Amino acid sequence: MYAVRRLINSNTALPVGSAPNFSRGIIDDIPGLSDLAVRCKIPLHVDCCLGSFLVAFLEKADFESLLFDFRCSRVTSISCDTHKYGFAPRGSSTVLYRSTILRSYQYFVLPDWSGGVYASISIAGSSPGALIAGCWASMINVGEDGYTASCKEIIGTTREIIQSIHEQTEPEVLGNPLISVVAFTSLTYSHIPLAPLLHLLCRHNRRVLSAIECSRY
Ligand SMILES: Cc1ncc(COP(=O)(O)O)c(C=O)c1O
Repeated sequence: MYAVRRLINSNTALPVGSAPNFSRGIIDDIPGLSDLAVRCKIPLHVDCCLGSFLVAFLEKADFESLLFDFRCSRVTSISCDTHKYGFAPRGSSTVLYRSTILRSYQYFVLPDWSGGVYASISIAGSSPGALIAGCWASMINVGEDGYTASCKEIIGTTREIIQSIHEQTEPEVLGNPLISVVAFTSLTYSHIPLAPLLHLLCRHNRRVLSAIECSRY
C-alpha cells in the first residue's frame, strides 16, 4: 500500500484495483485501497470483469471470500463482465456505480445536434439491443442458484488443481488463488512445458483449461 500511496499525486483521477487481474489471478487489497482513496479524497474503481460472477458468489458457495465491493466505503464503481462467468453473449458488460450522480457522467448528450437531441448511454454510441436482451435472458435463466452452483463447480475444480500442484515439489503455486486463475512458477526449470501439461490435465479430468501467460524471467 505504501508503494501505491507514493504513486498518487494531484494528477491522479482514479486508482483501479483488480478482483482479480487477468493472467495471475491476484486480488488486490481493495479495503486497503479504499482507505487510501478516502485519505486522498479520490474515487476508486474495481475491475471485477473476470471475477464478477465468481468472486461475488464465493461466500454463498461456502468458499473463503473477501471484501471487494461497495461494502468498502470508497469503492465508487465496479466493472463486471456478464459475457464471462455470467454466461451472457459475448460483447455484453456492465459498470456499476455507487450513485446515480456518478452514473450520469457516463451518458453522452449533445443537445444542439442538427438532428435534435442526441443522447447515448456511453461515448461508444449505439448499443446492440439484441446483446442486452441476450444478457438479460441469460442472467434470468441461470439465476442466483445457477451462479452459485457454477461457482461451486469452477472453484471446486480450481482447488483440486491447486491441490495437485501442491502435491508436487515443482511447480510452485503463486500466492493464494481464490478464483479460477492459478499462477505457478518453477525455480528449477527455466521453462515449464505448459501446453503438454494442460493437455494431460484436460484429458485426465475431461476439462478445458487454457494457458493465459507463460512468463520467463
Ligand atoms: C480483469 C479483466 N479486466 C478487463 C477485461 C476486459 O474485458 P473485455 O474484453 O470484456 O473488454 C478483461 C478481459 O479478459 C479482464 O480479464
